[in-house]
Amino acid sequence: VTEPDLAGRHVVISAGGTREPLDPVRYLGNRSSGKQGYALARTAVARGARVTLIEANTQLPDPAGADVVRVGTAVQLREAVLKAAADADVVVMAAAVADFRPAAYAPGKIKKKDGEEAPAVPLVRNPDILAEVAADRARPGQLVVGFAAETDDVLANGRAKLRRKGCDLLVVNEVGERKTFGSEENEAVVLGADGTETPVPYGPKEALADTVWDLVSGRLREM
Ligand code: C5P
Repeated sequence: VTEPDLAGRHVVISAGGTREPLDPVRYLGNRSSGKQGYALARTAVARGARVTLIEANTQLPDPAGADVVRVGTAVQLREAVLKAAADADVVVMAAAVADFRPAAYAPGKIKKKDGEEAPAVPLVRNPDILAEVAADRARPGQLVVGFAAETDDVLANGRAKLRRKGCDLLVVNEVGERKTFGSEENEAVVLGADGTETPVPYGPKEALADTVWDLVSGRLREM
């Protein structure tokens, strides 16, 4: 039996990975499956929350009981997150957001020409949605949670990222062979802005999601 410890709370979760179009048939994308974000949505519904799930390019069934908003690009994701965050108690950015997008969109398919060198693709920076939401809380006491995938110096890089982004909790994964991308399992350390460090052993993405909600719900109770 799950405690309805998030009853009366509105939680906003982003999931999946953005795709940044180059022309009508091509995009810059990433390998995020969306499974961790969907696990967060399912477990939040089970704990009584009102859930807005903002998904980018996943292939997963809608979680029962969540409001699902579909987006494609980082710019669209930003707009949807800011709108939903206006009355949210918690915002969790589990989506993999492209750091850069092509500077221009070609309305017709880009063609290769005989004898031509490979074209360069100029990129521009995408907005950092997590940093923006954390810096500009839509309501007092709103909790902001980020994710970070690191390959080395996981804890030191995670601490620095937590400070840089200004979020309350940062879930740090080590990217490895059987972990994180597309997998059903995850292993992580949840870092708190208050200095706490909560290791989550290798296991189902639901278990990590429930640990995040335990930490969130404890912090909401203290306010
Ligand atoms: O900086 P990095 O991409 O490692 O940070 C990951 C965290 O920041 C994730 O929570 C992701 O959803 C969020 N993010 C964002 N906007 C970006 C890049 C990342 O919200 N442009």
